[in-house]
Amino acid sequence: MLDVIYYPNKILRKKTKKVKDILSKEFQLFIKEMSETMLKKDGLGLAANQVNSDLRICIINFHDGPKAIINPNIIWKNIFRKSTYEEGCLSFPNIFGLVKRPKKVYIRYQDKNGKRKWLRASGLLATVIQHEIDHLNGILFIDKIFKHNKGKNKIKELKKLAKINEL
Ligand code: CO
Repeated sequence: MLDVIYYPNKILRKKTKKVKDILSKEFQLFIKEMSETMLKKDGLGLAANQVNSDLRICIINFHDGPKAIINPNIIWKNIFRKSTYEEGCLSFPNIFGLVKRPKKVYIRYQDKNGKRKWLRASGLLATVIQHEIDHLNGILFIDKIFKHNKGKNKIKELKKLAKINEL
């Protein structure tokens, strides 16, 4: 299992890079390890920077099991209709808050065989995908919480620590 990185580790703010050699043995092993880590940690998704990598891949926990979403981009989102979910994150233990995001998104990505694919998502899946793609761009859910349900004071402390880290 891979080690999960916790905030305010700087890699969580780094934008990830396009994966070029999807079919390499090394990368295929990484996909497997990421999937196992997400399942063991009971996550809905896991982004590469959360396991100390700068590659543009996330794993999403679909109903039929984990799926690798490689080099994803959101190509359309419904900015007029939003849904609200309580979000948490494996890099922020015991912190939960409400986040509003577009209700529907279209994304383009490559699967673990390097094949180009499209995906239309709505509801919770749309939220999970946007949370993970945000990670790959160095954006975190604590930037978007509008109502804290748990861990509000802890976030304040961690944000202070993050600022000290930048100095
Ligand atoms: Co997360």
